[in-house]
Amino acid sequence: MIPAAESAFAQSSPSPATLGRTLAAIGRRQPVVFDELMNAPLVLRHRDVAAALRDSTTFSTVFYGMGPMSEAMIALDGPRHHHLRRAHNRFFSAAASAKYARTVVPIAQRTFGPLASRGEVELVEESIARYPMEVFLALLGIPDELGDQGLAWVRAIITWLGSPMDETVAGPGMQAFAQLSDYTSTLVRRERQQAGDNMLGEIIRAFEAEDAYSHEAVTVAVVSLLLGGFETTIQMMSATICSLLLNPDALARVRADGPLAEAAIDEAFRWANPSAGLYRLATRDTEIAGTPIAAGSMVYLCIAAAHFDEQVYPDAETFRLDRRGTHLGFGLGPHYCVGAPLARIEVTAALTALLDACPGLRLDPDTRLSFRYGARGFVQHGTEALPVLT
Ligand code: HEM
Repeated sequence: MIPAAESAFAQSSPSPATLGRTLAAIGRRQPVVFDELMNAPLVLRHRDVAAALRDSTTFSTVFYGMGPMSEAMIALDGPRHHHLRRAHNRFFSAAASAKYARTVVPIAQRTFGPLASRGEVELVEESIARYPMEVFLALLGIPDELGDQGLAWVRAIITWLGSPMDETVAGPGMQAFAQLSDYTSTLVRRERQQAGDNMLGEIIRAFEAEDAYSHEAVTVAVVSLLLGGFETTIQMMSATICSLLLNPDALARVRADGPLAEAAIDEAFRWANPSAGLYRLATRDTEIAGTPIAAGSMVYLCIAAAHFDEQVYPDAETFRLDRRGTHLGFGLGPHYCVGAPLARIEVTAALTALLDACPGLRLDPDTRLSFRYGARGFVQHGTEALPVLT
């Protein structure tokens, strides 16, 4: 067992790659090991993590469905999940998402373009943190008034859902959920009465077309998208920018060849991955790599460790733009991130706008980076701050 004080999830590091590197090293000795801080056995090898993510019958996501979230897509399995996924694919498949770039790119240029003249900037709070919210409000046609209140609700709910064993976060999480649901419910009602040309209207039409419409179902779906799409994107942008600034050769190649930005984002997903891991609930007695897992117990599928598994990623320590192997940063299997195409558009637009605006972009040598699990109060691996010179 790893005592809480020694857990890799309790440490911080100037490099976003340290968590994965450390956990993969443990995984080479022992594929499954109980971590007191995470209160679950960590599953550390790529093969075992991938197999469990694919097997949603044995390793269930039902625990996400606490209280009012019981009907959320992430908490469902089998035909009910499939039905909702079909509705989501109507507005979120890669083809359907392509048109969102028209909205996203100008927001990215507005957000990151002016940084050129600033000299010193702390990127996370000043620019990155507001960007996904602004994108979402614009796409959904939600009034700007939601702003910081929306982010506060989202933060409370994600913290609650991401730490299902922590009772202290349940009260604030449930209250925030009720408030965000009320707000969203009003928007859905308004949109249905007077349809506009925005993503909220598309969601409503997609649910109707798949015979999945009810006011409650659309409200829960929109709330789930709000929950899934903010902090993940914020940390992914910090991870991508930071990975390139720590790997100047890769940065130079991306600057010289714009389309390489997509390869850089994929490699940052692997090397600096913010989704450190995902909990699952075992629905039956089973085993992982010879370790018995009892029905009703939680396991933590450690994506960060899997990303440094040399069996799958040779030379895993090195940030390389030529890897073709897929990463697990968007999950895998039935619950693979439904917002992945939009997230890619957002991160690509942000990176492109930032690099175009700031040809001399570099880390501020007078400050120390600090990556840790739980940064910004979320159950992800990331950083509170990214100080750069523009
Ligand atoms: C870079 C940003 C993102 C990352 C790293 C990310 C990561 C993930 C991961 C790891 C999962 C799987 C969760 C699990 O299996 O337990 C997931 C699922 C999901 N994500 Fe994302 N996500 C991102 C952006 C988004 C965006 C922009 C949206 C929506 C606008 C979104 C909505 C969702 C939803 C609804 C699910 C559940 C899918 C299902 O159950 O079928 N995500 N995401």
